[in-house]
Amino acid sequence: MIPQETVQQILHAADVVDVVGDFVSLTKRGSNMIACCPFHNEKTPSFSVSPSKGIYKCFGCGKGGDSVRFIMDLEGLSYPEALKWLAKKYGIEIVEKEYTDEELLSQNERDSLFIVTEFAQQYYADQLSTEEGKSIGLSYFKERGYNESTIAKFGLGYSPDGWDAFTKHALKNGYKLEILEKAGLTIIKEGKDPIDRFRGRVIFPINNVAGKPIAFGARILKPNPKSPKYLNSPETEIYHKSRIVYGIYTAKNGIRQEDNCYLVEGYTDVVSLSQAGIENVVASSGTSLTKEQIQLIRRFSTNITVLYDGDAAGINASLRGTELILEEGMNVRVVVFPDGEDPDSYVKKVGSEGFATYIKEHAQDFIRFKTEVSLEAVGNDPVAKAGLISELVSTITKIPDAIKRAVFYREVALLLNIDETVLINEGNKTSRKNAKEAEKDRNNYQRPDEPGPDFFLPEEYHPVDQTEMVSSIEYKEELFVKDLVCHGHEVLDKDPDTQEETLLADYVLGEIGDATFKSPVLNQILSIYKEEYHKGQLPNTSFFTSNANPKIQEKVINWLSPRYELSENWQKFEIYIPPYTSKLDDLSYKNILRIKKENFEEKFRQLANDLESIENEEEQMEVLKSMMKLKKIIQKLAEQLGSVI
Ligand code: UTP
Ligand code: MN
Repeated sequence: MIPQETVQQILHAADVVDVVGDFVSLTKRGSNMIACCPFHNEKTPSFSVSPSKGIYKCFGCGKGGDSVRFIMDLEGLSYPEALKWLAKKYGIEIVEKEYTDEELLSQNERDSLFIVTEFAQQYYADQLSTEEGKSIGLSYFKERGYNESTIAKFGLGYSPDGWDAFTKHALKNGYKLEILEKAGLTIIKEGKDPIDRFRGRVIFPINNVAGKPIAFGARILKPNPKSPKYLNSPETEIYHKSRIVYGIYTAKNGIRQEDNCYLVEGYTDVVSLSQAGIENVVASSGTSLTKEQIQLIRRFSTNITVLYDGDAAGINASLRGTELILEEGMNVRVVVFPDGEDPDSYVKKVGSEGFATYIKEHAQDFIRFKTEVSLEAVGNDPVAKAGLISELVSTITKIPDAIKRAVFYREVALLLNIDETVLINEGNKTSRKNAKEAEKDRNNYQRPDEPGPDFFLPEEYHPVDQTEMVSSIEYKEELFVKDLVCHGHEVLDKDPDTQEETLLADYVLGEIGDATFKSPVLNQILSIYKEEYHKGQLPNTSFFTSNANPKIQEKVINWLSPRYELSENWQKFEIYIPPYTSKLDDLSYKNILRIKKENFEEKFRQLANDLESIENEEEQMEVLKSMMKLKKIIQKLAEQLGSVI
């Protein structure tokens, strides 16, 4: 764990303009800097950096955060990894603090796995210069046309053809047998000597998104029916097959620049294309993509082009997996290579320009592709055709974007030669069915009884889904916490005798007591605030914008962003904008009252609801009494708020 002081030191050094400026070219506009967003493709800049607040926000794609978040999102790193990245940039030394026993155990294990895997990668790479390695491993790579720099770039290697050459070497260097086994490098069977997992194979290290080796794929040299072509590392604490794609580290910049990711099947396709200068390529390693893998790619682009080998069996199997990519809101295109060719063989045959031309000419949209492939299979069978129609419709309903869906309905209707409205109706039916099921899970949102005008929020407030209503209580809670975070340090009152100051935070926290909020993220912010407050310090906004929890970051950044401030039209929704220059106490007080009132009203509704199912008269009376009491409190609160009930 990185000590808190070092974290502060890093946060202090990592000026947002400096960090972001390394990746995009910023121009000054007013008190902010703007640029084209590095997270999505755009021609006019909607990415804005506020030097004074230390944050950035894109009004196109919604990404926002501080320097650390920027590095996390751009480089695809975890929070501690991003801190380390920044520490390196600013020459700050990290002396990791002592761990608790538990932390030590799991942290140690992960660290040890990283270290031993890196050690193994180096060992396999070094073997390429031994006699055996040169004549077997290196000559194999040379035969495949890989040059020195490609071999180095992917860290390729060779595992000698003995039983335990690597294991012995590692033990000699102080690595414990236990960790070698956990890393999947050594196989231990009872009553037998430990042996190397990879023997007499060429090695393809699998790197994580930060470029560290986490696992290996080991290819056999000569076809052997008794042994699989590839042996791969087993799942370990640092290697989860379903969360990584091969080549992501070398490909990520290319993917971002091209705003497109080529998806291929094999290790060798990635390596060959990279050598041909096509860098935006990752491999699924022979299986269809998982949700996590798609989300990993989506950090860098929302466009995927699937490059299929030219054999029909493979294509049909992959069609299903591809739908998951659509569900994640990505645009999917498909290229099929000529019979018997895969990207690796094809790029060798036609060179990089020929390859690029082929892709350009043959890339087609996934749904069109699927329609054509399936139509061929269905032939003239009307029953099969009907089945195909509902399958295609169900695929289209998975696309989150309504405009794209409309385009596809039209296209598929043309291809199938049926009326577009038939497809749309069918699709709407499917969507309604899906929505109903989703609704069942979504009981946490309560529609206010009588939505008054202030229940409707302006677009800017909730850009994700403009039609959804945010419940009024949550909205008031948010105003309350926003007040506290953004203005808690402001002085409300100064005692003329003692000179003691009363801050907005003193007042507000005193009033709210132990009440908790409905929204988990607001509760978290509040409890962090309270914790700091009780330590005798007030957290400022950057305390939250640099928080490791992205939900907290996002919330507070929204409060600080210009668009949130841009709210003249809020008045017309009767949401008052506190003029923070005066009367702070009054406004905060009102906010508290509103929250309290809402809470009591909810309790009241609850009791009214309970009452219906109570048969015992005495119990009924009890509940009625409680309700009367609540009614009085609510009335009082309403009076104080100046509204009429
Ligand atoms: P391929 O057979 O296409 O492998 O399998 P390749 O990497 O292109 O190798 P070459 O070109 O024949 O040398 C595609 C992917 O499927 C996985 C590997 O990830 C491979 O890259 N695979 C295949 C295995 O994991 N094990 C196997 O036995 C075969
Ligand atoms: Mn291949």
